[in-house]
Amino acid sequence: MIQVSLDAEWVAAVRRALLEWFEAHKRPTPWRENPDPYRVWVSEVMLQQTQTATVIPYFERFIERFPDVWALANAPLAEVLRYWEGLGYYARARNLHRAAQIVAQNGGQLPSTVDRLRELPGVGAYTAGAIASIAFGQPTPVVDGNVTRVLARLLWLKGDLKTAAAQKQLWHIGAQLIDPQRPGEFNQALMELGSTVCTPSQPRCGACPICHLCAAYQRGQPTAVPEPSRRLPTRQVVDVSALIEREGRFLLAQRPAEGLWGGLWEFPRATRVGRESLVTIALRAAHQVGIQAEPLCVLTTVRHTVTYSRIQLYGYLCAWRSGEAGHGAYVAWEWVAPDALERYPLSAPQRRLAKALREHAEATQR
Ligand code: ADE
Repeated sequence: MIQVSLDAEWVAAVRRALLEWFEAHKRPTPWRENPDPYRVWVSEVMLQQTQTATVIPYFERFIERFPDVWALANAPLAEVLRYWEGLGYYARARNLHRAAQIVAQNGGQLPSTVDRLRELPGVGAYTAGAIASIAFGQPTPVVDGNVTRVLARLLWLKGDLKTAAAQKQLWHIGAQLIDPQRPGEFNQALMELGSTVCTPSQPRCGACPICHLCAAYQRGQPTAVPEPSRRLPTRQVVDVSALIEREGRFLLAQRPAEGLWGGLWEFPRATRVGRESLVTIALRAAHQVGIQAEPLCVLTTVRHTVTYSRIQLYGYLCAWRSGEAGHGAYVAWEWVAPDALERYPLSAPQRRLAKALREHAEATQR
């Protein structure tokens, strides 16, 4: 690992130019208007894997329903998940809920230091640094994907920056660069520059307040760093959800609390093994929850991507023949009328199946 020691004058120039730019160009967001620690926390958890423009309406609805840590701690998890629906990465919502209960038990005040914040479920180095600097004015750096890219270009950092050693170096650089007078604004400025100007493939160097201080720009190669890290190839996956009808209701099953989509409901689902036909997978999806069903037809297909898997999900309409719901990789089962599906927290792809099912039910009733 190369130790980078930053020139004091250069650091001062970066701070000044970046803060001035942020003051003039920052996006108006509800958490910036009123940065109380709870609001900053919720916003940073939402922003972990989701873009600002997408987060804003979710944040507003969430804060309206759960305006403080007490409201969140006292709410049922299913309702919290319902408000999170569509944002993805639902472990974030479960951890936020659990952490709110811990904070509430300890008097309701969010801790103000990175070390204490990191004890909360779902609060890693990035979120702790963001909350400590933005809500409490602590001079702690924040290094996310956007900041990694900005720093790589500013300082011409070659190699794979996702490795543990490189990340350590980046946090070290971040700690030298942060403005101790205005740490929260500085961190937000760096992140915002990464997401709006210093973008991955077509950076707008002409609009960049620190291009005259940027090594990659001076070399005329702004996109040559960061170098792409070696990615695992994506897998192609075929899933079938059995949309099993019994007297006008459809079977939903709830996933266990842990893991991907934990706590969410879905139409019983199975993944293709080998060259299985869709009918076979649909039968297996029903069978795993104790139901013998007659597959009728594919109602709709949904494509989505989860980390390294590209998934094609088929919704297979089936008629119930026998068996009572139970078993499978689920913890609860309910027969639900189409117009009540909206009350259950579903993942985004399952919500699209529910929507298609509801439209189908309305069309066939007429
Ligand atoms: N990305 C994540 N958190 C952010 C913040 N507070 N400001 C700008 N971009 C962000």
